[in-house]
Amino acid sequence: MMRTILSLALCVIFLLLCAPAAVGEDLPSLKDIYAGSFDVGVALPRGAFSDKAKMDLVRQQFNIITPENEMKPDSVLDVGTSRALSRTDETAAAVRFDAAKPLLDFAKANGIKVHGHTLVWHSQTPEEFFHEGYDKSRPFVTREVMLGRLENYIKGVMGYLDREYPGVVVSWDVVNEAVDDGGLLLRISNWTKVVGDDFVHRAFELARKYAPEGTLLYYNDYLPSTSKLERACTLVESLKEEGCIDGFGNQMHESVTGKSTWSLTAELNRIANLGLKIRISELDIGMKTPTEENLKKQAVLYAHVMQQALRHADQMEAVQVWGLTDSMTWRTGESPLLFDGKLQPKPAFFAAADPESVQ
Ligand code: G3I
Repeated sequence: MMRTILSLALCVIFLLLCAPAAVGEDLPSLKDIYAGSFDVGVALPRGAFSDKAKMDLVRQQFNIITPENEMKPDSVLDVGTSRALSRTDETAAAVRFDAAKPLLDFAKANGIKVHGHTLVWHSQTPEEFFHEGYDKSRPFVTREVMLGRLENYIKGVMGYLDREYPGVVVSWDVVNEAVDDGGLLLRISNWTKVVGDDFVHRAFELARKYAPEGTLLYYNDYLPSTSKLERACTLVESLKEEGCIDGFGNQMHESVTGKSTWSLTAELNRIANLGLKIRISELDIGMKTPTEENLKKQAVLYAHVMQQALRHADQMEAVQVWGLTDSMTWRTGESPLLFDGKLQPKPAFFAAADPESVQ
């Protein structure tokens, strides 16, 4: 009997020793390295949650995650139900979270925070949202009706998440990319056409009204020029005066042939001068071809960004990469992330893990 038990025990020990290590288990952990300074996160698509190896790596490296698409209005606004409700109440707006459920369940089960992206955007928002009866062949609704729909949408989103996932979604991109890339303050969109130029302020007011206490509310944008940076800062300063914003999300979709380390530093300094919280919200650094030289340049830039984030640690809430691996990126073929398509760490990962080591 004892011999059998001993043999079984030895088999179990052998199997455990042979068991493959979870992906990333032997790597330095970014979330642990930067704990106490800021959270480190990643954007993930719905399909990633059925992949154990990817989820092992996410648990090992990150403490905040963002749905790459699944909490945007084209995933969350239930157009069919809203259309039916609009027959009696044109301001009705029904929401659903089936697309985001895998991410929300994973976060809740693993004690990982979620950053919501995004409540109000000119893109990935059903055209029907802006039309009478949710029928895009009919005229735009009035400003008052649209503000009513926006209120019911935000109320529905915040209510659902507070009921089903209390404390999981800790912050939101309330408005994404409202500032014009050219010379205007605001990009012309259905929001400016139907509500008017104050739609950003109204959105933040409603988010503040319905978000659970303590939820951090961000304006999020990409900043290809100092002109757009200044206009974004003007908008954020006006929101700050109304007390309805907590921070600025700087997407930082960069490239090895793009902004210099000097301009990246100046950009973050300017945003820090607003005196609000900062998120580096969608970091990726692309290249045309993954040559050794470009991978090295990428590593230097990732190290620089992490050093600048540390320099602003008193305001920095999180640094998030916009994708887990180079085979999951929206920038197909540009190798912009920390891990390659085989979940292997690139020089950029080790640079982000130990920025001081990068020359
Ligand atoms: O879900 C449909 C699928 O049913 C269809 O078969 C497929 C092919 O047409 O398209 C799928 O939708 C795609 C969606 O991603 C989900 O995969 C859209 O076509 C595609 O355009 C969309 O791209 C996303 C993009 O935002 C849209 O603007 C990217 O994944 C996402 O990474 C990117 O993220 C944005 C941030 O939200 C805001 N900042 C810029 C950043 C990069 O554009």
